[in-house]
Amino acid sequence: MGVLEIIKTRIEIREFEKKSVEISAKKKILEAGRLAPSGRNLQHWHYILVEGDEELDSLASLSPTGGWVRDANFAIVTTTDPKYNFNEIDAGRSITQMQLVGWENGVGSRMYTIKEPDQEGAKLALNIPEEYHLTAVVGFGYPIKKVTGKKERKEINEIVSYNKFGTPIEI
Ligand SMILES: Cc1cc2nc3c(=O)[nH]c(=O)nc-3n(C[C@H](O)[C@H](O)[C@H](O)COP(=O)(O)O)c2cc1C
Repeated sequence: MGVLEIIKTRIEIREFEKKSVEISAKKKILEAGRLAPSGRNLQHWHYILVEGDEELDSLASLSPTGGWVRDANFAIVTTTDPKYNFNEIDAGRSITQMQLVGWENGVGSRMYTIKEPDQEGAKLALNIPEEYHLTAVVGFGYPIKKVTGKKERKEINEIVSYNKFGTPIEI
């Protein structure tokens, strides 16, 4: 699959098979995160690989919108240093790379964030140093069924202008 095909076919899933993801796929996913570009190449991120039933259950209990992560095979928690501008853009780029490489290897995923007031408790539970921000969690695993979901996205002409904002584009 080319990159665009991976992007077109990947949808975010929260139902996973009870089957371990091969270590080689996990390594590729982490490598994709490691190689991501960041502002000034600061690479201020730190990832936590979370696996094991108890650990995932505990991770799931830390967020009202990520409870499904208990069914994932593993999760990657991305932390960043909020003193750097655009740290969340850096995190987003690395997470995207990890999710795309996961999909290339048959591994589905979904992302969620942990907002206030849950952020501090989650940082404590995961031993994340005070100076870091828990930016996002991604649960990974093999999809439980063949993924055929449709991407619901706006059309190009709804979201792209030509030369100046608001000038329609013909493409
Ligand atoms: C910044 C961000 C925050 C998200 N937060 C949550 C969340 O809290 N819980 C959840 O189940 N999914 C969350 N998602 C997943 C989105 O709902 C999902 O990416 C979107 O619906 C598109 O899904 P699709 O690619 O399968 O069409 C989040 C995604 C992003 C990019």
